[in-house]
Amino acid sequence: MRVLVLGSGAREHALVWKLSHSKLCSKIFCIPGNGGITEQAECINLSLDNFEELVTFARKEKITLTIVGPEAPLAAGIVDIFKQHKLAIFGPNKKAAQLEASKVFAKFLMKKYNIPTASFEVFDNPEEAKKYIDKFGAPCVVKADGLASGKGVVVAKTKEEAIEAVTAMMEKKIFGNAANKVIIEECLSGQEASILVFTDSREVIPLASSQDHKRVFDNDQGPNTGGMGAYSPTPLVSHKLFQEILEKIIYRTIDGIIKEGIVYQGVLYAGIMITKDGPKVLEFNVRFGDPETQAIIPRLRSDLLETMLATAFGTLSKVKRSGGLNWDSRYCSCVVCASGGYPGVFEKGKIITGLEEAQHIKDVLVFHAGTCIGQQQSDGKKVFLTSGGRVLSISGLGRSLREALQKTYQAVEKIHFEGIHYRRDIGAKALAMTS
Ligand code: AMP
Ligand code: GLY
Repeated sequence: MRVLVLGSGAREHALVWKLSHSKLCSKIFCIPGNGGITEQAECINLSLDNFEELVTFARKEKITLTIVGPEAPLAAGIVDIFKQHKLAIFGPNKKAAQLEASKVFAKFLMKKYNIPTASFEVFDNPEEAKKYIDKFGAPCVVKADGLASGKGVVVAKTKEEAIEAVTAMMEKKIFGNAANKVIIEECLSGQEASILVFTDSREVIPLASSQDHKRVFDNDQGPNTGGMGAYSPTPLVSHKLFQEILEKIIYRTIDGIIKEGIVYQGVLYAGIMITKDGPKVLEFNVRFGDPETQAIIPRLRSDLLETMLATAFGTLSKVKRSGGLNWDSRYCSCVVCASGGYPGVFEKGKIITGLEEAQHIKDVLVFHAGTCIGQQQSDGKKVFLTSGGRVLSISGLGRSLREALQKTYQAVEKIHFEGIHYRRDIGAKALAMTS
């Protein structure tokens, strides 16, 4: 069957790579894709904002399943439009996507259905928000209600920082209308883990646990990014804790969504803080995580396309009855190679070298994000050029987390482009915990 993947990151590359191994899959298209995805899929340069054009493409190319990578088209209702046209699509509809697109929606749902999360207040007036901060004190967390490309959260150590965040979000409108409302919430402490599940609203099948590294520099210093590396599984989440997260967070959320009259089909991602009082939700995403996917998917032995079809068609119980998902028992780690300056301003168009050497290392996978194909000036040969902030995501598998990390960093060291930077401490905290 013919499959269409929407998106252009390393997450989508990992999905396309895995789908290309499916016995059910005859051809993959990716819109818009990136330099590396062209190896497994035909990349088509269309906009992800024009749903009618995407529907026409899916019809013309006889696509059996469209898979949505990023949150923006989900929040804008792409699933509803595809379904109106009787086209199968993997991902939640617009109402369900509010779990990520509106943090206020998510927080009220959690409150109503007794899902553990930080205590919070919602404000639509900056003066009220500032008064509350003055009374409540710091540390606290200021969050824009809507989508803000992963930048809408400020963990404020002081009252001044929190007030500044309110001014920037609500008065200077740095995120436009996304911060018409803000949440001010209790600052939680602990370690973070990402728990992703497939659900068709009837059945839930968890993916393997993982941990992201959001800050740009080693030792969790510097600003938040889209994610600088991940590994799976994480020893932070024992079998018992996993069950607790499923019971108290995942099942309650899906039951709550259903009680609100909403159907949820796709991946549900819970960002969890493991506090001394138990696991609490930091955020929900309505899609695969990036870079978590690049650490999880290489460990998946089952057919991804089969599972996605079952999710989209509401037949996940069949997958469950036939034993659920099968995982490689090895660890997988991934390290993101970013452009100099990311997550701030960065240059593009730098030649990337060392990709083949990295790829040839056993148990290493190179997933592209911000890359495009260019030509070497001297001889016209094909080269990969940088075209985004997060450029590559290198994944390595190993029998232990240490071995996975060794493989990954061995490959990362082969890669070069002007300004390259990456964290050197992915998985370090987990290693310290287990050794
Ligand atoms: P979010 O986009 O809501 O996941 O927030 C991004 C990051 O901000 C999270 O991964 C946490 O590191 C941090 N964060 C969010 N909410 C809180 C909170 N209530 N307490 C402490 N840190 C938080
Ligand atoms: N890894 C964080 C995210 O995908 O939002």
